[in-house]
Amino acid sequence: MSLPTRRAAAFAPSNIALTKYWGKRDARLNLPLAPSVSVALAELGSLTIVQPDADLAEDVMVVDDQPLDDAGMVKVRRVLDQVRQRSGSRWFAGLRSVNTVPPARGLASSASAFAALATAAAEAYGLALTPAELSALARSGSGSASRSTAGGFALWHKGERDDGSDSFAEQVFAPEHWPLRVLVARVEAGRKAVSSTRGMALADTSAPFFRAWIEQCDRDVPACLDALAHKHMRSLAEVVEGNALAMHATMLAGRPPLVYWQPATVGVIHTVRQLRAEGAECCFTIDAGSSVVVLVEPQDARPVADALAAVDGIEEVIQTRIGAGARLLSSGEA
Ligand code: PMV
Repeated sequence: MSLPTRRAAAFAPSNIALTKYWGKRDARLNLPLAPSVSVALAELGSLTIVQPDADLAEDVMVVDDQPLDDAGMVKVRRVLDQVRQRSGSRWFAGLRSVNTVPPARGLASSASAFAALATAAAEAYGLALTPAELSALARSGSGSASRSTAGGFALWHKGERDDGSDSFAEQVFAPEHWPLRVLVARVEAGRKAVSSTRGMALADTSAPFFRAWIEQCDRDVPACLDALAHKHMRSLAEVVEGNALAMHATMLAGRPPLVYWQPATVGVIHTVRQLRAEGAECCFTIDAGSSVVVLVEPQDARPVADALAAVDGIEEVIQTRIGAGARLLSSGEA
């Protein structure tokens, strides 16, 4: 049988969770214990090219001009094997990826990486996937990647099925629904010592209130969607900040405890709360890292960004918007 294979390129945005994914019901398929909500970051993400090649004896991937390490290749193969199985092709692929997100610093570069990989690989091997199938494919590489294919304001359904086919994300509001600015206050902490996967497993098995955290996520998701529907920053702040701090509480209460924060992380938390008390429409969230992401109404973006940049230990404040989901690129673009 002759199969359609061709070079394909895709861009996918990173995303930041407003209510977090922190706990798996199936570690192999990256199935979550709770649903989660996110926003896609406009131009921060990954551009990935997939080229199936009959002459290759295995998949090879270069990320930011470096060969991908073994742990990374295991996850990439997990995605490519599914694509090959569905397409009937046996060809391995050469892959090249460029990130515009600093890797492993709490800014979820894996989300954009696996969303771009899934999008480009499906095209390269001639698969016609629904948005839900594409999201689930990206999820199998990295859980949070399921939300990057969807883009905008996305909801990742936790799903019930064992095969994960109902655990995918979809866009619930377009980026234009609430054109918030996104500020990333970068706090340097070196490469993080403990991966998200390991951190979640540690919290699950040793934090005393881990089940309560998952139940809280089940309540936070509808509250977050309601705040987004009404574009109500004060309600959003209560859910988003509470959810991020509760996630970090499970890390702090694990054995051994995980402390991702640096002094500047706490500095930004207090600054955002103070700015809001003074009337600025903003809120913060923190992933498994030391950097802080701040959502802010456009009219307050400038003063809030200036205040964040003045916090001791902030390397830089990256400013972006809420963006669309993953997209294929034409040969002129990549
Ligand atoms: O998709 P992973 O395995 O990189 O996990 C992401 C976990 C958090 O970023 C901390 C939370 C989230 O929902 O994105």
